[in-house]
Amino acid sequence: MKKQIVPGTISTKDLHQYIIGAVAPRPIAFVSTLDENGIANLAPYSFFNAFSSNPPILVFSSNRRVSDNTTKDTLHNVRQTRECVVNVVPFSIVRQMSLASVEFPSEVSEFEKVGLTPEPSQTIQAPRVAESPVNMECRVKDIIELGEHGGAGHLIICEVTLISVSESVMTEQRLDPNKLDLMGRLGRNYYVRASGAALMEIYQSVTEIPVGFDGLPEHIRTSSVLTGNQLAALASQVRTPAAEDVERIKEEKGLWMGDSMLEKHVKAATLIEEGKVWDAFCLLMTAS
Ligand SMILES: Cc1cc2nc3c(=O)[nH]c(=O)nc-3n(C[C@H](O)[C@H](O)[C@H](O)COP(=O)(O)O)c2cc1C
Repeated sequence: MKKQIVPGTISTKDLHQYIIGAVAPRPIAFVSTLDENGIANLAPYSFFNAFSSNPPILVFSSNRRVSDNTTKDTLHNVRQTRECVVNVVPFSIVRQMSLASVEFPSEVSEFEKVGLTPEPSQTIQAPRVAESPVNMECRVKDIIELGEHGGAGHLIICEVTLISVSESVMTEQRLDPNKLDLMGRLGRNYYVRASGAALMEIYQSVTEIPVGFDGLPEHIRTSSVLTGNQLAALASQVRTPAAEDVERIKEEKGLWMGDSMLEKHVKAATLIEEGKVWDAFCLLMTAS
């Protein structure tokens, strides 16, 4: 049974929790701006993502407060200056980021309140966060108002003018997720740390056409042992093992020849989890 939630029939506060709980984890834009008097502002926004690489476009949304329908300093500042820096949030500054979400008065700079260091940007006036390993300097192309009531967003569409990357988060000229150690936002007060055991690498060829679920032999597709993810690993192969592939594997690994079909499926599941998907596929082809 699935609960059906119709927007408009529950409070905006409750609907918001369903949305942020379900659309998760979300990246966090730690946005630095300047007001018209040159006071720096810093605030986290997780209604945020990248939407284009050419031109390079980031979008985040500054919402009207549900409690009193007021708008936020970041929105005011980007309207005035048409620029901002999107700084990424690694684990090392996650609590400072959270502290920056407090509604300090407009004339107070969050940089001082949360102990982070403003450093000059190269292409715009708004400062970067020195402690953030990736800073994206942006010009604001457009601001789209999504509604007039509490909870309504303003889409702030930004074109990146410069990306500044710390060498410390690179491996062989690429951003390294383990070194970056980024945080993501979920519902309620939950965050996720995107490094170590939380990372999962899935290699998927996009140029060669895989066999797909419907291309798997019946006894594999209807296995009572293999999970959807394990079947998908098999279905991602670009061909079904031929008789000679199976023979070669039999000769090389011979261990499963006397096993029952069920045992072969159990062994195949283990092989898939070990990353030996092709061996598992060959083994399963001997189980029909
Ligand atoms: C992780 C995190 C993500 C947030 N994401 C958003 C968001 O996407 N949109 C929004 O309006 N407020 C969001 N907030 C709340 C704002 O950060 C908060 O209202 C802040 O005081 C706004 O600061 P400003 O007035 O300086 O712009 C978020 C808060 C946290 C801690």
